[in-house]
Amino acid sequence: MNADDFFELLSTARSVRRYSPEPVPDADLAKILYAASRAPSGTNRQPFRFIVLRDGPRARRARRLLGESFRRGWARKAEEEGWNRGSAADPDSPKSRVNRAIQHYVDHFERIPAVIIACYVRYRELTHSEGASVFPACQNLFLMARALGYGACYSGWHNAVADELREILEIPANVELSLTITIGKPLGRHGPLRRRPIRDTVFDDGWEQGAEWISDPPGARLSKRRS
Ligand SMILES: Cc1cc2nc3c(=O)[nH]c(=O)nc-3n(C[C@H](O)[C@H](O)[C@H](O)COP(=O)(O)O)c2cc1C
Repeated sequence: MNADDFFELLSTARSVRRYSPEPVPDADLAKILYAASRAPSGTNRQPFRFIVLRDGPRARRARRLLGESFRRGWARKAEEEGWNRGSAADPDSPKSRVNRAIQHYVDHFERIPAVIIACYVRYRELTHSEGASVFPACQNLFLMARALGYGACYSGWHNAVADELREILEIPANVELSLTITIGKPLGRHGPLRRRPIRDTVFDDGWEQGAEWISDPPGARLSKRRS
């Protein structure tokens, strides 16, 4: 794969929240998780762990619990952030499209082919950079899934039921449940990412010092500025 192909792959790895029900074969899941395990971590301690939830008896219980938590999490967020107000009245607005995708995601949660809980084994007191040794592995997983034609989505909506999940899955107390990652074949297409103008996020030689040497390529999809 050349650099342009790789760039294209990561530029079209947007969150996929609608999945076909076909299962993810073990061989693909194995590649995806092997890719995750190749990630860097502080002092190469590799404190990341991944719990795959498909159709085992404990997985089914955990997925039911997660489904309920995701639905509550989205209902609360939608209300707090006004996802059903303003431009949500226009069914073609970006807000409405994302709203529908997330509603579909949480409503069909139990049918998502593979749910993975990314965990972090804590080996020292809580530090500000705790996630830094687990999130690179998550993104390796995410991109490998994309490369194999799967779509994925991250979520933190497992947090509200973390205690119950610990019990069902026998997760020890020193292990943090960092992220939930869902995977399956997308029902729609992979598509381009929408991000802030690149000069909003890259500075040169000091905070908010313009980096004149970088610009968005023609056709890049830009998201609105939010403080
Ligand atoms: C740490 C983290 C937590 C996220 N939590 C959720 C979530 O709870 N529910 C959800 O639908 N998407 C979640 N996302 C996905 C983001 O909403 C998504 O990546 C972002 O809106 C950009 O959209 P894109 O990935 O399609 O480009 C999360 C992403 C990250 C990195």
